[in-house]
Amino acid sequence: MPLYSDIGSRLAGPSGIQELMDDTGSALTTHPDMRMLGGGQPAAIPAVQKLWRERMQVMLDDGSIDKTLLNYDPPGGNPVFREHFAAFLKRECGWKVTAENVAVMPSSQSACFLLFNLLAGDTAGKKRRILFPLLPDYIGYANQALSEGQFTACLPRIAETAPHEIKYHVDFDRLRITPDIAAMCVSCPTNPTGNVLAQNEFDSLHALADTHGIPLIIDNAYGHPFPGVIHNGFQPQWRPGMIFSISMSKVGLPGARTAMIVADAPIVKALSNMNAIVSLANGNLGQALLLPLLKDDTLIKLGPQVIRPFYRERSDFAKSVLASALGDKVPWALHAQEGAFFLWLWANGLPITAKELYDRLKERKVLVIPGHYFAFGLENEWRHPHECLRLTYSQPRNTVQEGLEIIADEIIRSF
Ligand SMILES: Cc1ncc(COP(=O)(O)O)c(C=O)c1O
Repeated sequence: MPLYSDIGSRLAGPSGIQELMDDTGSALTTHPDMRMLGGGQPAAIPAVQKLWRERMQVMLDDGSIDKTLLNYDPPGGNPVFREHFAAFLKRECGWKVTAENVAVMPSSQSACFLLFNLLAGDTAGKKRRILFPLLPDYIGYANQALSEGQFTACLPRIAETAPHEIKYHVDFDRLRITPDIAAMCVSCPTNPTGNVLAQNEFDSLHALADTHGIPLIIDNAYGHPFPGVIHNGFQPQWRPGMIFSISMSKVGLPGARTAMIVADAPIVKALSNMNAIVSLANGNLGQALLLPLLKDDTLIKLGPQVIRPFYRERSDFAKSVLASALGDKVPWALHAQEGAFFLWLWANGLPITAKELYDRLKERKVLVIPGHYFAFGLENEWRHPHECLRLTYSQPRNTVQEGLEIIADEIIRSF
């Protein structure tokens, strides 16, 4: 085997996100008997699939597909798309943005990778770091740093909000912006917990970032303005100095691999330049599919009218299955369901680790994600996420029901 560089070894070694994508990929292809309660797959929602099929049909009929497939766009995205996307954000969200504030990227996953390494890492002889102010947070960030010690994180305050229900809050008593902090990043709604920042938490994080002159990165993969899977109506407002990531994936287009970053113009320019080096250009199919929908309110209505109710119904169903299977046999709680596509289950005092539980469940053909992958950037061991699982309910109902009943059974057995 050749000798890998330090950066090469960091990226090529095993990681939580790679195991997750391998597991879910094979569950959906070569192991169809696996009950897939693991990945971040959007559900097959017929009205959404119909919309994309119709858009593709129009592109085939009017021949625009040829131009779309044939041409390389500039690395920051198609100029016409950027104009229309900025106009959409201005009209529908009231954000004061122009095309200069929009960078199209080949996925929010790669946009985060570029951002974290643009802003943090070894900088003029010092280590600059990305601070995740509200763990647990997205597994996909965990291995994106190109240097050791580039991530740091703050543990949450855990509040019991109802019987068998918790909510994580930013613990502002613990959160410290030291001079080494280059930016803060939080997903909202949060993957894995479904947490949504309260308005006052968002405002306080913004004020902290502003005071220290650092960007606040909000990853809106599940949220505002689309797919809009936020149940309490929270709509974060972009302001100068902030960096928002908006993905096409959760409106049913993960295969298009496209996301938009909204940021100050110099950050947009820096990302475009980086993208030229890494990817040359973006896939342009997603931009072409979305473009006409930016001109009316189709896209903005899709969330509240179709996508959000779909996940709400699924989430309520999954919660009721789990609640009746677990009953009061063991101590458990779910995170309050405020958004996104997941249940975050805490088996308080679980005698085995979530990883062992994951292995036992895999034996029984149920795929979940053990909670510890969502805790990173920490110097000390944190037991709590080893008692947690992230569960998806986007697969067909019977798969979700069978999977959840097996999970409950395995948890009860392990106590
Ligand atoms: C919070 C969060 N951010 C980013 C991503 C990656 O999205 P994309 O498909 O745009 O790379 C995901 C995917 O599940 C996610 O959950």
